[in-house]
Amino acid sequence: MERELPFEPYRVKVVERIHRVPREQRERLLQEAEYNIFKVPSAAIYIDLLTDSGTGAMSDRQWAAMMTGDEAYAQSRSWEDFEATIRRVTGYRHVIPCHQGRAAENLLFGALLDERHVVPNNTHFDTTRANVEFRGAVALDCICDEGRDPQREAPFKGNMSIPKLEAAFARYGGRIPLVMMTITNNSGGGQPVSLANARAVAAVCRARGVPLFLDCARFAENAWFIKRRETGQAGRSIEEIAREFFAQADGCTMSAKKDALVNIGGFIALNDEAIAQKLAARLIIQEGFPTYGGLAGRDLAAVAEGLREVLDEEYLTYRIEQVARLGQRLDGYGVPYLKPAGGHAIYLDARAMLPHIPPAAFPGVSFTAALYLEAGVRACEIGSLMFEHLDPDTGKIVAPALELVRLAIPRRVYSNTQLDYVADACARVRDLGPRLRGLEIVWQPPALRHFLCRLRPLGGRSLIAV
Ligand SMILES: Cc1ncc(COP(=O)(O)O)c(C=O)c1O
Repeated sequence: MERELPFEPYRVKVVERIHRVPREQRERLLQEAEYNIFKVPSAAIYIDLLTDSGTGAMSDRQWAAMMTGDEAYAQSRSWEDFEATIRRVTGYRHVIPCHQGRAAENLLFGALLDERHVVPNNTHFDTTRANVEFRGAVALDCICDEGRDPQREAPFKGNMSIPKLEAAFARYGGRIPLVMMTITNNSGGGQPVSLANARAVAAVCRARGVPLFLDCARFAENAWFIKRRETGQAGRSIEEIAREFFAQADGCTMSAKKDALVNIGGFIALNDEAIAQKLAARLIIQEGFPTYGGLAGRDLAAVAEGLREVLDEEYLTYRIEQVARLGQRLDGYGVPYLKPAGGHAIYLDARAMLPHIPPAAFPGVSFTAALYLEAGVRACEIGSLMFEHLDPDTGKIVAPALELVRLAIPRRVYSNTQLDYVADACARVRDLGPRLRGLEIVWQPPALRHFLCRLRPLGGRSLIAV
């Protein structure tokens, strides 16, 4: 009998040599980076799972599209392809190109928000939260209850809680100018949102006359989960499901560095003409002329091709099941992670592995640093360092619900053998247990501190006790 997928639906045409530098060198580099993994040179990283954003491998067709990209300043052929493809995939009328997702957020929120406002989301991604808060507005997470429980298996843990959304409207009413919904829910574990939830959220927004925008960086992965997990969706194509999802909302912001399978790019797409005009006027000041928005013609061409390719169900099956396979290997070692496996990443439960390190001493950062030290693998903390914030009601600093370490899998890049190596390394670091020390911040910038802050192991001693 023929074996079923997932098989890689591609073969390798270009390779890039990577190196596993000696442990002593990793130790020195980690100290020089002041335990901030963002500052470790990429050349000294063996497997880089810092992010799935802009780190994917482009296809031969995308590279070909780049070679034939039209670099005209205005109305280029590449722009026409970009605009037409986004209109077809999303169904929205107006397309505003941006150089990446946070530029789209900056543009949209800059036009719609001020300090009186409150923005509900299932869970704000860090740049989304920062772009809301930068305007003095409040970013309010309304994730469903099952999304807060790392061990609970549920099909759509990215769903927005309708009671929480309704409570937000009851409380803040006219202060809510838009609702955002992140698909899949990155900060909540790469968990999908169901079509049923999107319809319910859209109904609440429509009843209040408030627009709903999708943060749709991983819309195709979300559609794949809907096809597999939601009743009545199995027979539909990814494109059909995605189209229906987009139809629930009034617009979207997109980091094309994820599901458009490119290294740079983004856009806003929406139906409202007045807002689109306002955005285009701001775009010219901030990003560039409305037919390129901070991107080269070849980048626009690669996004258009990537958006066509990502709708291929065989690709998505391979992609998402590769992540699930990494989860199964971790299960074999009993390494705890947020269940079920996310679409683009595994989120290790650092609090469960390192109960002796309190959130204020960053268990996720400790695990991440040790993973690099032990194996040359780069992961990303998604916990108190990234998401500690001020509670608008109490004025107190609150830790996020979970202390996670994200292993984000770049698209079409690493083999299963390499991911087996990662799972083995995670088990070894977990086994260090109480020998791992927490960290303290030596210096931090005012916003998005995880990118630039400097840390040291508590008391200035070594990260791993002998
Ligand atoms: C859900 C989500 N929204 C927005 C962004 C920001 O996109 P970019 O990194 O392209 O600015 C990201 C990036 O990681 C993301 O995952």
